[in-house]
Order: sequence, then C-alpha cells, then structure tokens
Amino acid sequence: MHEKAPVETAILRDCPVAPAAASLVAIHALVMPAAQLQPPLPGLPMVRVLDSDEQRRWNAMHRPDDRDRFLASRALVKAVVAAQRGCHPRGVRVTALSGRRPQVVGFEASRVSISHTRGLVLVACCMQGDIGIDCEYIDHSLDTAALARRFFGPPEHQTLSQLDDAQPNDGFFRLWTGKEALAKASGAGLDAVLSANLHDLLAKPHQAHHGPWMVRSLPPIAHCAMAVAAAGSAWQHEVHCWDAPALVEAWSG
Ligand SMILES: CC(C)(COP(=O)(O)OP(=O)(O)OC[C@H]1O[C@@H](n2cnc3c(N)ncnc32)[C@H](O)[C@@H]1OP(=O)(O)O)[C@@H](O)C(=O)NCCC(=O)NCCS
Repeated sequence: MHEKAPVETAILRDCPVAPAAASLVAIHALVMPAAQLQPPLPGLPMVRVLDSDEQRRWNAMHRPDDRDRFLASRALVKAVVAAQRGCHPRGVRVTALSGRRPQVVGFEASRVSISHTRGLVLVACCMQGDIGIDCEYIDHSLDTAALARRFFGPPEHQTLSQLDDAQPNDGFFRLWTGKEALAKASGAGLDAVLSANLHDLLAKPHQAHHGPWMVRSLPPIAHCAMAVAAAGSAWQHEVHCWDAPALVEAWSG
C-alpha cells in the first residue's frame, strides 16, 4: 500500500531551497458582477489587453464567464505591475501557460499570483518570496460536509464538525482556499496540500503555518472566500479594491 510522506517533508521536498521570506503581500481585488450583459471592462477591448498567446487561450475558452475573468485577471495583473514599474500596462508581459505559475517577463524578482471565481478576480504580488492566492465563490448548495470527509484530514474534519450553524460551510471554504493558496505558493502537489493540516485557519486569527509557509484566510469579498500563502511568518498583507472603471482608467492613454 502506498504510504503518504508526512506533509511537511513532501512540501519541503518540492521546494529544496528555502524560499525567501515575503515582507508585504499586496492583494488586488476586482469585483465582477455575475452574468454581465456588457463587456467586463467597457471600452477596453480584448486585443488591447491580451498578447497573441493570451488571445489563443481566450479564444479556446467556450464560456463567456471564463473569457471575462481571464481578460479581467490579465488586465488587473498588468495594471498592478505597471503601477509598480511606472510604465503603461501595455508594456507588461505575463507568461500565459495554462496550469503554470504566472511570471512577469523581465521582472522576475516580482512575484504574482492570480485567482478568479464567480464574481471576483484576485491578484497578489510581492517583491520577493513565492506567493499564492485563491478565491472560491461560497456555494451554499454544496454538500461541504461530504466534501470535507472526502478531502480533509481528521483534525480539520473534526474542527469543522464542531463549528455551529452556517460556519462549517464557511469553514470548508476557508480550508479549501487555504490549500489552493498553499499549492500555488509552494508548487506542492495535490497529495501534499490535501494532507496538510491547516485547521488553525478555522480559529482566529485564521492563519496556519506549514513548513516555511504561512497561510492566511481573509474576510470574504462578494460572497467569495479568499486565502493567501507566502513564505515566512512575519509578512503583512494589504487589500486594494478595484472596480471596472478604475481598471479601464489605468489602461487609458
Ligand atoms: C491549477 C490550480 C492551482 C488552479 O486553481 P483554481 O482554483 O482552479 O483556479 P484559480 O482561478 O484559483 O487559479 C487559476 C490561476 O492560477 C494560476 N496557476 C495555474 N497553475 C498554477 C500553478 N501550478 N502554480 C501557481 N499558480 C498557478 C494561473 O495564473 C491561473 O490563472 P490563468 O489560468 O488565468 O492563467 C488548481 O486547479 C490545482 O491544480 N491545484 C492543485 C492543488 C489542489 O488540488 N488543491 C485542492 C485543494 S484542496
């Protein structure tokens, strides 16, 4: 029978060199009303934001929501990096490979992470140290108790089952987004993040430590759970909220 490696070992093995600790993680949030009848970023055409590789990915997407979120996430990450560098967002290139960590071309020291879900796009950035961000729409129709039994370890499952009323549902999404954020920051695979014990995310101050990583669960925005992970245990985070007009304005000129 296949025995799972202890999670800390697994995560450290995936990350042989200790990652540089982060100091400040900036989180940029763009709320996108669902089922929009108009373009997500009025006046900002897709071809202005996306390079040819990104346009290929956009063209391959069938659902309008997926296209809108992809476009908005690229517009946001480029606007955020452009503001750091003092250039126009059109001058920022972000690698576009599906299933891979995004990377800002020519500005490798700056780390970015992207997440999008129903109604929300998030971009996290940091000047050093790998980071991961995740958001998930809190879908109350899901049988989160069954999912927790299937995917989470006994300490997390037990802590979840002791929460009152609506809290187990919210708690499930805290853990889920925490694990996804940890996966994105560490590069660890499915087994490692599923068996990582993040039950500290369920109690204040909603943060958990694993190996060199700290994972923090953030207050929901637009009914979406959010979590961020970064190397080190002393980093701060700040949240910046954007709306579509502000993002379009950042692309003007
Ligand atoms: C690839 C994965 C990270 C995407 O997460 P998701 O919740 O489906 O989607 P999100 O919108 O949050 O994230 C997508 C973004 O993550 C980024 N991303 C994709 N693969 C990544 C990777 N290996 N590392 C870091 N970031 C990655 C990309 O920027 C992507 O955006 P893009 O497709 O627009 O370029 C996720 O599906 C996955 O495989 N996770 C592995 C760990 C796992 O199974 N966790 C289960 C939780 S219990």
